[in-house]
Amino acid sequence: LASIEVDVASLEPGMSLTVKWRGKPIFIRNRTPEEVKAAADVPMSDLKDPVARNANLPADAQATGVDRSGGEGKENWIVMIGTCTHLGCVPLGQAGEYNGWFCPCHGSVYDTAGRIRKGPAPENLAIPTFSFVSDTKIKIG
Ligand code: FES
Repeated sequence: LASIEVDVASLEPGMSLTVKWRGKPIFIRNRTPEEVKAAADVPMSDLKDPVARNANLPADAQATGVDRSGGEGKENWIVMIGTCTHLGCVPLGQAGEYNGWFCPCHGSVYDTAGRIRKGPAPENLAIPTFSFVSDTKIKIG
């Protein structure tokens, strides 16, 4: 199915945008260095779902800060399907205890890497197939 290209040149650190892809919201966020560090510093043992859930990586990749991001050198970038893994509501960005995402339906709390940290959702927010076609353009799908 169709892929899309998203120009992220205007997204300063701390900013995010949502685009639609295959009928789903896709969250794109340019994390601040503090947010990148906060996510990277979390031990895997603290995570409810320690699996990366990243379509660009092997299925057993761990949910490290880098493996939940755009990868080495692109750790600031987060690209995720914006569908709560509990019952599919759309979480709110820059919200919740970790300033990541918060799902208002039943209170699931995701961190700045989109990893489930509290509430009923069983899995981290899914990461779709994506790649950087240039420094400022992301291809999704
Ligand atoms: Fe998000 Fe239930 S749908 S917490």
